[in-house]
Order: sequence, then structure tokens, then C-alpha cells
Amino acid sequence: MMLRDCDAEFLEKLARMLPANTLFAPEARFLEEPRGRWHGRAGAVALPRCTEDVATVLRACNAAGVGVVPYGGGTGLVGGQISVAGALPLLLSLERMQAVRSLYPEENVLVVEAGAILADVQRAADEAGRLFPLSLASEGSARIGGLLATNAGGVNVLRYGNARDQVLGLEVVLADGRIWNGLKRLRKDNTGYDLRHLMIGSEGTLGVITAASLRLVPRPARQGAALMVVDSPAAALKLLALAQAHLGDAISAFELIGGMGLAFLAETMPQLRQPFANAPDWMVLIDLGLPEALAPEDALEALFAEAFEAGLVQDGVIAATLAQRAEFWTLRESIPEANRKIGAISSHDISLPLSEIPTFIERAGPALAQINTYRINCFGHLGDGNLHYNVFPMPGRSRADHAAERAAIKTCVHDLVHGFGGSVSAEHGIGRLKTGDLIRYGDPVKLAAMRAIKNALDPRGILNPGAVLADGEMQGE
Ligand code: LAC
Ligand code: ZN
Repeated sequence: MMLRDCDAEFLEKLARMLPANTLFAPEARFLEEPRGRWHGRAGAVALPRCTEDVATVLRACNAAGVGVVPYGGGTGLVGGQISVAGALPLLLSLERMQAVRSLYPEENVLVVEAGAILADVQRAADEAGRLFPLSLASEGSARIGGLLATNAGGVNVLRYGNARDQVLGLEVVLADGRIWNGLKRLRKDNTGYDLRHLMIGSEGTLGVITAASLRLVPRPARQGAALMVVDSPAAALKLLALAQAHLGDAISAFELIGGMGLAFLAETMPQLRQPFANAPDWMVLIDLGLPEALAPEDALEALFAEAFEAGLVQDGVIAATLAQRAEFWTLRESIPEANRKIGAISSHDISLPLSEIPTFIERAGPALAQINTYRINCFGHLGDGNLHYNVFPMPGRSRADHAAERAAIKTCVHDLVHGFGGSVSAEHGIGRLKTGDLIRYGDPVKLAAMRAIKNALDPRGILNPGAVLADGEMQGE
């Protein structure tokens, strides 16, 4: 169905249904995205204060056929929050809805509104003596609604799972304005289709999440981290297996960092202290959360000794203090920022079966070299089989010089990933950037089922039009 513009006439009508000061001309920040690749457009931004107002907005947009782009913290990397084509949409930000609705410490449950910033949710859990384990570099601005809508991953997936694994219940406004009150606090609820998991990861195309009942976990008594130098991704995987055999669930993160990442950090952020005098080709950041009785330094030292003996690691540094642990993490979490400064030609958020990772890395470099000469920064959540495999120009050249090769680069990497049974979007979602990839690599039966679900829940197609299920795709990255 054709959508219509969110124009002055519609906005005038909508304003009459809402409390004063709910609709605004969109500030520039709503139309930008972290990599600065695309610029969004919107007729207005709605800043509702409560779920009823969200329902009013959606009911009106559905009746009029006006598209709605749900907007969280704006940190998404696949353009899910950026409308670049089609009828002018209404932007819907839940940033005024940040309340902690309730806390049940004895149940390990926290109920928050969708506009809550992740760092604030982590703090609320901490103040209750618990941990909310979702953690990623943008946690200072990413909001719960967007994190759940995109099923965000981050650095603790290995131990605690993706965003969807942290959710017990949801409150969601459907396209026609009906409110689904699914804010359960149950660990077991086997009553038919699990709408919660349908909404999580739907990227705002099936409903607007307005609140969530979140699962908290015990806070580890002691935390520690180490950087260990390995000579290959294959050795890193053997180290992971060794670490898991000894430490099991205590491993909260196992991150791979490549020599190119360290070189980019040295070039763009020379103030950051490099951990090793000679930058290694590969290293891993291992993070541990342990009970009171166990010292992380001892556990990491024992692991290092055994791995050294087995020839898996060549060098290492174990954080002596929590401040040093934080320093290791700063290094890791600054890599995307360094990447932005260098300017990737094409970025890939991929996952592979763990055992295929070394072969993928061995083959991808030479395959890309057939197109041109590039620098590759390969890093990411090795414990989850999730690599950020990003392709950069050689020094002295710019991403613009390689614009004509972008499509070939992307296809080269994604075809290889697909051939290994991997995923072309491990944790960032489809958004508007990867709609073509979804069609190219997605199972046709799955795609048909997705379209049927979309038609059932949003028959007029007002929810995040152009995202996830679309024929065109956004160019530029
Ligand atoms: C990271 C983002 C890019 O892992 O997902 O740093
Ligand atoms: Zn990541």
C-alpha cells in the first residue's frame, strides 16, 4: 500500500490528539547516524511521554497511512533508524520514557521503559546489587527499546547471551495502536507463540516496544582481564577451548584484536597506551567474572602458563588492577572509533561456525586482493564466532577512491561467509543497509514466513518502511 507524507495537514490533526509539546521539527541529531554515511528525513519527531500517547501516534499514522520510524539512541550501524527514501515518515523517539517502573530484587527482575539508556539500566541493576549483563561500546547512548528491537549483541554474549536472552516480558504498541501488555516476570510461560521473541530483533517493523521486563543476574564478586598474544586465529580458538575447559562460564568475554586494529589505534589515538612494545599480529582480550573465593589474576596466570606450555600464546599481560582492566577495554572499545577515523570502504558484521573462522580469514584476504590492495581490520567477539571484518584503503588513499569496488568487496566477503554456513549480519541487524543481503542469502521459506508475519501485524506497512523487508537497499557503505 502507498504511504503518504507526514505533512503539515496530518501533523495538525495529530497534534490535536496529543498533549501539547509532543510533536517537534526534527533536530539534526535525529537525522544523523554514527558513521556519517546517510542523512535521514522526517516530517516531524514525536516525543511521547507515555504508552497511551505512543498508541495514539500509531493509531493515527495507521489510519492515515503515514510511515513511522522508531528511534532509540541512534547508535545503530545499518541505517534502521534513518529513512532515506519513500514518503516522508514521522520519527518516533521514546527518549522521554526512561522510567524504572519497578524493581524486584528477590526475583532478579527490573522493569524499565524503552527510552532508558543502557548505562542507566546497568547502574540501576548495580545499585540493587545485581548485574544487567548487556554491554557494548555505545551503552552511554543506546536505549533499551532500540537494543531490544535490534537484538543487540555486544561483548558479554559468550556468557550471558544476546539482548533477547535478557528479556522476560515486553509491552508493545502494535501498528494499529493496540497495546500488547506482555510485561510478564516469568521464566516459564509456554502459552503459545512467543510474541516477545518476534518483536525482539524485528527492528521496529512489527511493533514499538515501550517497556521491558528485564532479567538480572548475580554480580560477579571479582573481575579480571588479560591480553594474550597468539600467532593465529586458530591458536586463539584453541586458547578459547582451553580457557573454557578450565574456567567455563566465568569467561564473560573473549575478544579478538588484530594487528591492524592496534596500528589504527596508534595512528589515530596515540594517547592510548599500547600493551606490547612490538604490536602482535593477533591478540585476545579475555575477561573473567568469578566468585569471591577465586582470584582472577591466579586463574589467568594458570591459563597463561598452560597455554604457553602448549605453544598457544607467546606473550601476555594480566591486569593487576581494575583500572588496568578498564584500560584493556578502552583499547578494545576504541577500535570502532579508530576505524571511523581511517574510513572503511566496507564493513562486515559476520558470524561463522567457530571452527571455520581460521579458514575464512585465510581465504578472505587473498579473495579481496583479487579486487584491489586493501588494509583489513579483523576483530570482534571471537567467543561468539562474530567477526567485524572491515576493509580499508591503503595509506594515502581514501574510501571515496574505492567507491566503485564497494559492491564487489561486500559480495566477496558475504559470499564466502555464506559458503561457510555463516551469517551476513551477526549482531547489527538488517536495517536498510542489508535488505538486499537478506534476500540474497536468506532462506526463501523463512523470507515468505517473515512477509506473512509483517502483513498480519502491519498490513498498511507503516512501521519502519524500507527496513528489513524491502526491495531496494541503501547505498554507501
Ligand atoms: C563492536 C561493534 C562494531 O564490536 O559491534 O565494536
Ligand atoms: Zn561488535
